[in-house]
Amino acid sequence: MAKTYKIALVPGDGTGPEVLAEGVKVVKAAADKFGFKLAMTNYDLGGERYKRTGEILPDSVLEEFRTYDAIYLGAIGHPDVKPGILEKGILLNMRFALDQYINLRPVKLYPGVETPLKDKGPEDIDFVVVRENSEGLYTGAGGFLKKGTPDEVAIQESINTRKGAERCIRYAFNVCRKRNKDNKLTLCGKTNVLTYAFDMWERTFYEVAKEYPDIKTDYAHVDATCMWMVKNPEWFDVIVTDNMFGDIITDLAAIIQGGMGIAAGGNLNPEGVSMFEPMGGSAPKYTGQNVINPMATIMAGQMMLDVIGEEKAAQAVEKAAITVISTKLKSMAAGHMGYSTSEVGDLVAKFI
Ligand code: IPM
Ligand code: MN
Repeated sequence: MAKTYKIALVPGDGTGPEVLAEGVKVVKAAADKFGFKLAMTNYDLGGERYKRTGEILPDSVLEEFRTYDAIYLGAIGHPDVKPGILEKGILLNMRFALDQYINLRPVKLYPGVETPLKDKGPEDIDFVVVRENSEGLYTGAGGFLKKGTPDEVAIQESINTRKGAERCIRYAFNVCRKRNKDNKLTLCGKTNVLTYAFDMWERTFYEVAKEYPDIKTDYAHVDATCMWMVKNPEWFDVIVTDNMFGDIITDLAAIIQGGMGIAAGGNLNPEGVSMFEPMGGSAPKYTGQNVINPMATIMAGQMMLDVIGEEKAAQAVEKAAITVISTKLKSMAAGHMGYSTSEVGDLVAKFI
């Protein structure tokens, strides 16, 4: 009997439903070809539901999410909702509640995609960022003293646990080994200033490294990492870093791989349920126009297939996407692809 995977779909806001529809089209085509089934259920979450009912992410939905093999998300973000409410209430809440402690961001410049880096091509831009996704500055630890007065104090604490750093670092070593490209893992930190947090990270890094004699280790401060990512991106194979630095460097990385039209990410709980999403936002101004690029969502679907264990199907999606990117699309920018959102999905599905 064909294996069935349960997938929770969260189309979300703005252009989220449009891009997710194309991602679904493509992963379903891959499932048909490779002989497995995807049982998908839609979840209405996002700005519209919040405006209508005041609900953000009900606990009952979180409990249901635990029973799925994966969550596939379009975009969250609504022009009428104050920034932070939906991000914190849906995206961060999901990460914490489901303990999605890894944010996995492959950074690959595909042939035919434009990079803003001069004289750099697909052979130079091909690395992976493993971002810690459950600790650091994102835990919400801290508070105000004397808020609103001239003596106000605002404290935002970075929480780092040995367990949290270790599980992230170990995951990164495994990614590096499996990738088998340069077999080099770079710890990105700030050991010269954050002398507690990154002292622990660094000690943990070199201790875990002893289990991976086949992997070379490297260290770069976060500021230098930004510089090298622009000047010599070919130096990177796999980068591991904390939550906040990871947030920042993965936007830089997304731009050098061609921007939000292509960049995808996974919020992973390797022992539980993971969520896959395009890096871009809900792009409200393009809503309903069928012009937004669904490629990032398709690549998120590709990651999802890989993580649930359908590696051959994932490879086929990547191959089909590369064909469409390099032989069909005029540009990765919304409205300039030479095809509509749904035509891009059709093309990728056809090439599988
Ligand atoms: C990301 C996003 C989120 C983050 C926001 C939307 C909370 O920027 O996934 O990188 O900061 O982690
Ligand atoms: Mn970010």
